[in-house]
Amino acid sequence: MNLLEDVSLQYQHLDSYLYRAKSIDVFLVRSDKVHPHVSGNKWFKLKYALQQAQQQNIETLISFGGAYSNHIHALAYAAHQLDINTVGFIRGQWTEDNQTLQDAQKWGMQLHSVSREAYREKHTQPFLDELKQKYPNSMIIAEGGSGVLAVKGVADLMREIESSLPNLDVLVAACGTGGTLAGLVASAEHTKSILGIPVLKGAQFLNHDIEQLLSSSGSSAQCSWQLDLDGHYGGYGKVKAEHITAMQSIEQHHQVLLEPVYVAKMWRRFDELVSQDYFAPGAKVALLHSGGLQGRRGFKALA
Ligand SMILES: Cc1ncc(COP(=O)(O)O)c(C=O)c1O
Repeated sequence: MNLLEDVSLQYQHLDSYLYRAKSIDVFLVRSDKVHPHVSGNKWFKLKYALQQAQQQNIETLISFGGAYSNHIHALAYAAHQLDINTVGFIRGQWTEDNQTLQDAQKWGMQLHSVSREAYREKHTQPFLDELKQKYPNSMIIAEGGSGVLAVKGVADLMREIESSLPNLDVLVAACGTGGTLAGLVASAEHTKSILGIPVLKGAQFLNHDIEQLLSSSGSSAQCSWQLDLDGHYGGYGKVKAEHITAMQSIEQHHQVLLEPVYVAKMWRRFDELVSQDYFAPGAKVALLHSGGLQGRRGFKALA
């Protein structure tokens, strides 16, 4: 597996009565298709960290995530391919039938369950020092893979999108930690506008986190960007029956599979914004399908 090879992205033109009625041209960036296990934003967020780990002969990669984390799943697979050990600190308990973590274990990841309180301490110096002592030749990858190297990797993704979709006006992406958004705005041309849809309730703090990520990676926003805070549909990980119904209707109409926690929420909110005339007639807009389809297995209605 060569994470540094250039991947070719596919783009799907999206047709619907709504988009035609509002005279906007909409494309789906199919980054979900770049790899079956390291899909979507994960490929771009992890590629430089994995390259650095290889170059520095790092023995162990340590990271953090929830019990259905797309990041933990992708990291376990990619590191296994590169013969690097992995340790995952998982927020809370999980059940035996959790296929995300079964896969991670199959790929050699050593899993530790940590309480929600202890999980909050994961980026504090004493905890990081303890990890360094326990795993001396290791590299710590932040939750969601969101660090300086992720910003660099996602910036590559933005450049690829711009070269394939000339005259794009707006790119829309789901936000969790904000690492993906930081990478997109770090390299987008100044004529673009990036709209982030956080899937966490009350995610104003992401404005600060994204600025922080940009400055720690020595970059700054190259274009205008903003967050729309009304696309969480009940909050992080909350997937109600009506959300599944709305998601399935999008899936059927556009013949595409979606990930419910991030991608489907972004798309639903996008459609609401289109109905509210958020986008100017004539706008060329792209939605980022940020992958994570493995996460569907966590929802009985989708299994
Ligand atoms: C499928 C998917 N899309 C989007 C995101 C959000 O990415 P970020 O944490 O970089 O904001 C995630 C987060 O892990 C994800 O798994």
